[in-house]
Amino acid sequence: MKKIVQLMMVASLGLFATSCYNDALPEEPIPANVSYQKNVQNIFTKNCIGCHKGAVNTNPNLTDGNSYLSLTTANATTGEVFVTPGDASGSILYQAMTGKGAPQMPPNGALSASKLALVKKWINDGAANN
Ligand code: HEC
Repeated sequence: MKKIVQLMMVASLGLFATSCYNDALPEEPIPANVSYQKNVQNIFTKNCIGCHKGAVNTNPNLTDGNSYLSLTTANATTGEVFVTPGDASGSILYQAMTGKGAPQMPPNGALSASKLALVKKWINDGAANN
């Protein structure tokens, strides 16, 4: 009888540990080498270009083919640069996506933790146009 109780305790501990582990996993795996054109642009295309489609007052332009230049070169009128390679937390893009230091983007709530981690990794890895 004692053995059974012990077994049950071990089994439930195992279940508990597994559920914690699952919670900690991001919903989508982050690639070892984040590709701007494939992974990051995909996030913009699905979540941002409804508003950031290149009209005058929708800076940055996040449409496919235009977003990289728009994010990494200084805005002609404001001098603002949205991405500082190697410094996600100092980049307006990441600040906006996390709602820390810039208005929350998208305005109706932050994207999933794994999408934020992907953008963070891309910036911290040097923000290449790869
Ligand atoms: C519903 C429309 C809408 C959506 C969707 C949206 N944005 Fe924005 N975004 C705006 C508006 C409007 C502004 C400018 C006003 C402001 O600064 O609050 C802005 C400003 C920004 C800025 C500049 C912030 C600054 O401080 O200069 C960044 C960067 C940005 N958005 C990124 C994103 C990203 C990335 C997404 C998708 C994950 C996104 N936005 C989705 C409307 C939107």
